[in-house]
Amino acid sequence: MKNNIVNFKNIFFSYNRQNQIFNHLNLSILKNKKIAIMGINGSGKTTFLKILNGLLFPEKGSYTFLNKTITKNHLKNKEFHLWFRKNCVMLFQNSDFMFFHSLVYDDLAFSLRIQGYLENEIKDKIDYYSNLFGIRNHLQANPISLSGGERKKIALAMMFILEPELILLDEPFNHLDPIYIGHLIDILNSFPNTILFTSHNFELTMEVTKEVLILHPKEQILFYGNLDDFFSNQELIEKSELYHSHYHKHRNVFHKHKHIHNWRF
Ligand SMILES: Nc1ncnc2c1ncn2[C@@H]1O[C@H](COP(=O)(O)OP(=O)(O)O)[C@@H](O)[C@H]1O
Ligand SMILES: [Mg+2]
Repeated sequence: MKNNIVNFKNIFFSYNRQNQIFNHLNLSILKNKKIAIMGINGSGKTTFLKILNGLLFPEKGSYTFLNKTITKNHLKNKEFHLWFRKNCVMLFQNSDFMFFHSLVYDDLAFSLRIQGYLENEIKDKIDYYSNLFGIRNHLQANPISLSGGERKKIALAMMFILEPELILLDEPFNHLDPIYIGHLIDILNSFPNTILFTSHNFELTMEVTKEVLILHPKEQILFYGNLDDFFSNQELIEKSELYHSHYHKHRNVFHKHKHIHNWRF
């Protein structure tokens, strides 16, 4: 319990009391892990991250973050709210929703200002993180004038600049070019605290971690463990539906079978 960053106890969650996404969900996550959340479209990955980030609240059950219970009511306490927002941050799948200012600099400064940092401390942090994320040249630009990939880099920097205990990243690799993806993998691997990220890409995932939580609409948690164990269990792979099937050629044979690139079964 002491080493857990997140604890879900008997969580129930549905949208509009109809579509039951989580049912009796129990789960704990140890501190300082990197965990990939995988699963087909609609399996609940984004919903799961939003509950963790205190944007959605379970109907029943309890969610504790660093042993503190997260509820709508508790977050109304200003001091607690500031502490939670400093330590649990979330990159949205569509990171365009994360910009509110006409200068990239002010978007990066925003949450630091709310947290009460002084302007010279903020400047130092923006110097460091804009270098790390390769966005120095954009600091005086309007976010809407930048490309989707450039905005994604800024949104990522907005997460790391708070140096939180837990970073939740919904599809962090989308829209980024291959060289930058390599750079981001290095950043994720050198971050000392906990990261949970969603992805559909097994190869990229394995560059960061072998620990995966695989969700499925019917099963909730289909698998939570090491990817090697997942890949050695064909029944589980089939159940996860995280493979594809399309026509392709092996030598001169044109055929179709279920596969995940690099893993044939
Ligand atoms: N705001 C919402 N209102 C109603 N249903 C939603 C809403 N957001 C997501 N859902 C439904 O909840 C299920 C899980 O969605 P989501 O968590 O976005 O899955 P994933 O991120 O794995 O694709 C889906 O069936 C989706 O249609
Ligand atoms: Mg999603």
